[in-house]
Order: sequence, then C-alpha cells, then structure tokens
Amino acid sequence: MIRLCQAADRETILAVINQGACAYAGVIPADCYHAPYMSLGELTHEIAQGVSFWGFEQGGTLRGVMGIQNVKDITLIRHAYVRPESQGQGIGAALLTHLRQLTARPILIGAWADALWAAQFYRKHGFEPVSSREKNRLLSAYWTVSPRQIETSVVLADQRWRDRITAVQV
Ligand SMILES: CC(C)(COP(=O)(O)OP(=O)(O)OC[C@H]1O[C@@H](n2cnc3c(N)ncnc32)[C@H](O)[C@@H]1OP(=O)(O)O)[C@@H](O)C(=O)NCCC(=O)NCCS
Repeated sequence: MIRLCQAADRETILAVINQGACAYAGVIPADCYHAPYMSLGELTHEIAQGVSFWGFEQGGTLRGVMGIQNVKDITLIRHAYVRPESQGQGIGAALLTHLRQLTARPILIGAWADALWAAQFYRKHGFEPVSSREKNRLLSAYWTVSPRQIETSVVLADQRWRDRITAVQV
C-alpha cells in the first residue's frame, strides 16, 4: 500500500532513509558520507521546506519512502530509500510511478554520481542525466546544496523537462 506519511511517521521515515543510505558506505566520497546519514532535525527541516513523503507499507511495516517537492516551476523527487532487505522488489518503482502521477510539472532528480544503481533505476523509468554544465545550473537553482555536493552529484530529468528545453531552443 502506498500512502502519504504523517507527522507520526517521522522516526520510521528516518529509519528507512538511514538503513537505505547504508548502500552509500564506501561508494560515495568519504567526506560526503556519514552514518546515520540523516538526523531527525534534517528530516524535519526538509518537511518544513515542503517535501511530502510517501511510503510503501507492507505487513504493517514501512518498507520504502520517497519525497516530492514543488520548487519554483518544477517538481523534485527527493530522498528515495528502500530498506535493504526490500530492495529490488519493485517498491522504488511503485513509489516513483505513484509520485509522478501527482504532478503535471517537469520532474528533476538529484543523486550521488557514484551511486550508479540510482541513475540506472531512474533511467529505467525514462529519466536521463543532464549535461555537467546543466547539472551545476539546476542544482544551484532548485536545490540547497553545498558546492561539494554539486560537484559529486548528477541530475536526471524526465521527458517533460527535455521537451521544455527543446521548446526553448527551437
Ligand atoms: C534506488 C532504490 C530507491 C530503488 O528502489 P528498489 O525498490 O530497490 O528498486 P526496484 O525494485 O523498483 O527497481 C530495481 C531496479 O533498480 C536498480 N537498482 C536498485 N538497487 C540496485 C542495486 N543495489 N544494484 C543495482 N541496481 C539496483 C536496478 O536498475 C534494478 O533493476 P533490475 O531489478 O531490473 O536489476 C533503492 O534500491 C535504494 O534505496 N537504494 C539505496 C539508496 C539509494 O540509492 N537511493 C537513491 C537516492 S537518489
């Protein structure tokens, strides 16, 4: 079951994020990784900034979470995490498909460049990495991230975004 997470879910959302983020250990640059990956304060801040978390629940347990945030004229998919033992079973796909139906805006997604599986996952759903130059511009325009995170991230865009860019260029 996919449902909108509530304030009472915060600790559980955090647990899912921090368990899922263990995949980054030894993969993303050491200065970008820390465990736990996210604090309750950071999660609360993200929610206050407009990130709505949706969860995939099975057998009374939240197995995966994914956030959606409208920023300016586009939509961001934020903080996509599935518990390690539940990965590779279609939960991320179900959440992404659900969230995409919630917006008519172009969608952008940021990911660590070294988390190759994440880009592979999004590419399977029609997202494509933007150029390095465009990535720098988009991360500065739509995210609040450090120069180091910009350097070590990729941005993937959906077809709506690509259509918009093409329309501007024509
Ligand atoms: C990325 C993530 C959210 C995808 O959710 P999921 O439920 O595992 O993904 P699904 O089962 O729907 O889709 C699986 C596909 O995702 C990709 N994928 C996910 N995890 C992978 C892994 N560890 N290694 C390789 N590919 C992986 C593959 O393309 C896979 O396709 P396949 O099954 O045909 O090989 C989840 O694996 C996760 O939490 N990973 C760790 C944290 C992370 O990278 N989050 C992304 C933040 S941008």
